[in-house]
Amino acid sequence: MTPSAGRSSGPSSGPSTGPSTGPSTESDHEKAAATVIERVAAARPGKPVPRIAIVLGSGLGPLADQITDPVAIGYDELAGFPTPGVAGHSGKVIVGDLGAVSVLCFQGRVHAYEGRPDAMAVPIRCARAVGCDTLYLTCAAGSLRQDLAPGSLMTITDHINMSGSNPLVGPNDDDVGPRFPPMENAYDPDLIALQVAAAVSDNLSLAAGVYIQVLGPMFETPAEVRMLGRLGGDAVGMSTVPEVIIARHCGLRVTATAMITNLGVGLSATPVTHDQTLAGATEGGERLGRLIRGVVAGL
Ligand code: HPA
Repeated sequence: MTPSAGRSSGPSSGPSTGPSTGPSTESDHEKAAATVIERVAAARPGKPVPRIAIVLGSGLGPLADQITDPVAIGYDELAGFPTPGVAGHSGKVIVGDLGAVSVLCFQGRVHAYEGRPDAMAVPIRCARAVGCDTLYLTCAAGSLRQDLAPGSLMTITDHINMSGSNPLVGPNDDDVGPRFPPMENAYDPDLIALQVAAAVSDNLSLAAGVYIQVLGPMFETPAEVRMLGRLGGDAVGMSTVPEVIIARHCGLRVTATAMITNLGVGLSATPVTHDQTLAGATEGGERLGRLIRGVVAGL
């Protein structure tokens, strides 16, 4: 892998070969990166390539509307990219400006419960190959604490992988990252501090806590929610952790914010549904957008 941080967009560094149908390979992310670089160079001549990639979670896709001078590339135009299949996830790479900063946004993700825990490996490694050094993940999550109310924003300080799966299972590509990547400080402490500072300066309330990933796709039972809280989780969701693992494996710095859309099953009388998740994310999307802008401006 040949990351190109700091490079200006220029002519294509390789041809677009179109999407592949086979399993993810290293060459897929290199081909996808070449396509992104070519399209961005043509549409945004002279602008710097993005250093920051952002993944927009369930219901948070409209945040991409805040990006100016955008270039949108469908996942179906990029080698090895997955096809999102869940309402609220549309499947586009958007490169543009958030404030004064160039960003690469993934509008739409594929979850482990769709059958491929490594579905986001090619997109994230592509972002690295395009020149990004930082990945900002967002997600919707259920609260495991009565005092962490729906509508809260939570910076993720650590995670517990309870999904029973891992995106790095299988042969390791040593050119991408090590066989046994460390997960200490997976959520970059400086970037957590930056989230806190951005929240304070924009008068946003920001909680901090541990995210537990479950496989899904069903929501938890009340007993499971009680167990996850006792295990040390503050919030539960079905995403993010595979992407953090993939990103740390290939050397990206990571930060993440969860939008708390509901109290975990059994912690309130309101039934938990995906529609509620989307509505909660939409409601909080404006605040999360402000937080992301503040963080990106401080990077
Ligand atoms: N559980 C799992 N995933 C979620 C939840 C939840 O309560 N809310 C949003 N994503």
